Amino acid sequence: MATITTDQGATYAAVLGFGSYRPSRVIPNADIVDAIDSSDEWIQQRSGIRQRRFATAEETVQVMSVAAARKAIERAGIEPQQIDCVIVATVTHLLQTPAIATAIAYELGTDAPAAFDISAACAGFCHGLALADQMVRGGAARYSLVIGVERLSDLTDMEDRGTAFIFADGAGAAIIGPSDTPGIGPVVWGSDGEQFDLIRQKEDWRDIVAMDRPVLPYLTMQGNPVFRWASFTMAKVAQQALDKAGISAEDLDVFVPHQANMRIIDAMARAMKLPERVVIARDIADQGNTSAASIPLALDRMIDEGQAKTGDTALLIAFGAGLSYAAQVIAVP
Ligand code: UT7
Repeated sequence: MATITTDQGATYAAVLGFGSYRPSRVIPNADIVDAIDSSDEWIQQRSGIRQRRFATAEETVQVMSVAAARKAIERAGIEPQQIDCVIVATVTHLLQTPAIATAIAYELGTDAPAAFDISAACAGFCHGLALADQMVRGGAARYSLVIGVERLSDLTDMEDRGTAFIFADGAGAAIIGPSDTPGIGPVVWGSDGEQFDLIRQKEDWRDIVAMDRPVLPYLTMQGNPVFRWASFTMAKVAQQALDKAGISAEDLDVFVPHQANMRIIDAMARAMKLPERVVIARDIADQGNTSAASIPLALDRMIDEGQAKTGDTALLIAFGAGLSYAAQVIAVP
């Protein structure tokens, strides 16, 4: 029997640079409330959202992704041609095939990297990060680009009380590459398919074409059960990610949970007994819930504003439709 040669990767991987893109349309709660019989006060109290960002027609999934990726590449100090793999986490690239990752890779001027999309909803970026970490250490890629991007405004029914005030648009990106020291801790990830229907696209494409007046396949969410699941179960997952990385809450500098609801963020921080000095991402207030883009958008802002510094230890945790989740500790680049 022939002996198969296998890949040998880097000893350690790390995030080398983040980037993000915020679309230009700022939408205050006042612009949302009439269509859903709500109020600015209710939205702020229940979700912490003051305003969100929606993309213009020109700010496509590809345009936002390329802008976020260019910043991440520049910050990482590499050339696009050095990227061996492009992973795009999204549920709002509205062509079923091909993957938008190949078009993004081409526009960035990369050299024919592996390029594919993944669908893990709001948990997509942390799934992509876990894959990229394994690739760099396993030898399948020296540098990987991970993008989380959404145009949720395309799939949101602005008359649906349960979702119209939550979802938003944007893109975040990260370059993962070899490192002399450990920069990405073990991923804790999983799913609960019993709750498949709690957040979902309402109809599939066959249902849509059978409609008298077809509309895009809007997202629907049973918010309260998701809220309870996220508030109680996700703090345990976050703790497991700390345990696996061999650190405690005392060692953390930055906490970047998925930006779904300010009350979930606060509940998790309380359950984990985070020390006061840990800086917590609260991007949701100005940006809304951008699903796969929310974690890199929030962390990139913290880096830009000096709240997260090079070498800081950050805990990321993402969760959403599926239900699916993923968490890991990283060193801030
Ligand atoms: O990103 C993926 C993961 N997603 C999440 O993690 C989202 C999780 N869920 C949530 O963030 C929250 O469930 C929401 C913010 C969506 C809703 O907050 P809630 O505290 O769970 O509200 P609720 O659905 O239990 O509704 C409470 C009350 C109800 O009235 P009564 O029965 O108490 O009289 C609703 O009819 O608020 C009413 N309500 C609204 N009122 C004004 C529901 N939606 C609205 C609305 N405006 N948009």
